Amino acid sequence: MTVQIDSQGRLRHLLTLDGLPRPVLEGLLDRAQAIIDDGGRSARGRLAGQAVCTLFFEPSTRTRLSFQRAAQRLGADVLGFDASTSSTTKGETAADTLRTIEAMDVRGFVVRDRAEGAAAALAAIAAPGTAIINAGDGRSAHPTQGLLDMLSLRQAKGHDFSGLKVLVVGDVRHSRVARSDLHALRILGAGEVRLCGPESLLPAPAEMQGTPFAHDLDEAIEGVDVVMMLRLQRERMVEGLVESLEAYHRRYGLTAARLRRAAPGAVVLHPGPMNRGVEIDDEVADGPQSLVLQQVANGVPVRMAVLEALLSATGSASPAPGS
Ligand code: CP
Repeated sequence: MTVQIDSQGRLRHLLTLDGLPRPVLEGLLDRAQAIIDDGGRSARGRLAGQAVCTLFFEPSTRTRLSFQRAAQRLGADVLGFDASTSSTTKGETAADTLRTIEAMDVRGFVVRDRAEGAAAALAAIAAPGTAIINAGDGRSAHPTQGLLDMLSLRQAKGHDFSGLKVLVVGDVRHSRVARSDLHALRILGAGEVRLCGPESLLPAPAEMQGTPFAHDLDEAIEGVDVVMMLRLQRERMVEGLVESLEAYHRRYGLTAARLRRAAPGAVVLHPGPMNRGVEIDDEVADGPQSLVLQQVANGVPVRMAVLEALLSATGSASPAPGS
């Protein structure tokens, strides 16, 4: 049992993909795909009468809006929380904010914060029946992004990841997406995962989960099936980690010419928002091998599956007995 899994093996919060049992992870992906396949009919009204609050202390477009869309499609009310106009500006703590909104009979909280462990800290004090979903905490984890990336990969490459060669490129050091993707790829048995980026943007060896890394993108991209590009996270960087954006693009930008070195039919993922012309060129971002908008679209059913598993009386991310 962990904070996020109860003694019956059911998901109680979603804080990280690290250590999530494979059947739970696959159960969420299967449910998201079923929601897509039936046009959302099986999910309609599943959370009627419930309320979900998007508690974001950092900017977001796709995560916040797709959680809102997901909750609405499940029939839940959605309470948007704007940190800049909230009583946190008067010094109210995140814990008191949670308790205040819980007192309004809200049981689902989607939390983004620049502090690592922020969602877990709220999960530790949440009332019984309250579910906390980590929508990104510092550099640590972005579990629903990891899930939607895995769903996009399944759709493009099938369920068996054992033959896949995956390359993760860029600012691994600051990327919670990279950490969640590495956790998910490991759980799902990806054949080969490599990292590539400048020395200054690689994390500490202990954080890389044993994944090999390279500095030369032209060599590292050779023959890979999946290229996962990462955003250069200038808001989390100290000065001087990259020489210049132009130099970064020359060495690590995904151009159409570089992509031709990957395996035929290779797919490109980027969590967004993209720094076009820095880590990825327009021709690739908008090209036929790009899954970028498919990733965004998959965010809604994935987040529906997560909300349903956590908040519906019958929801469970565990497989049904005998399934
Ligand atoms: N991928 C992602 O988390 O995007 P947002 O910051 O727009 O939510």
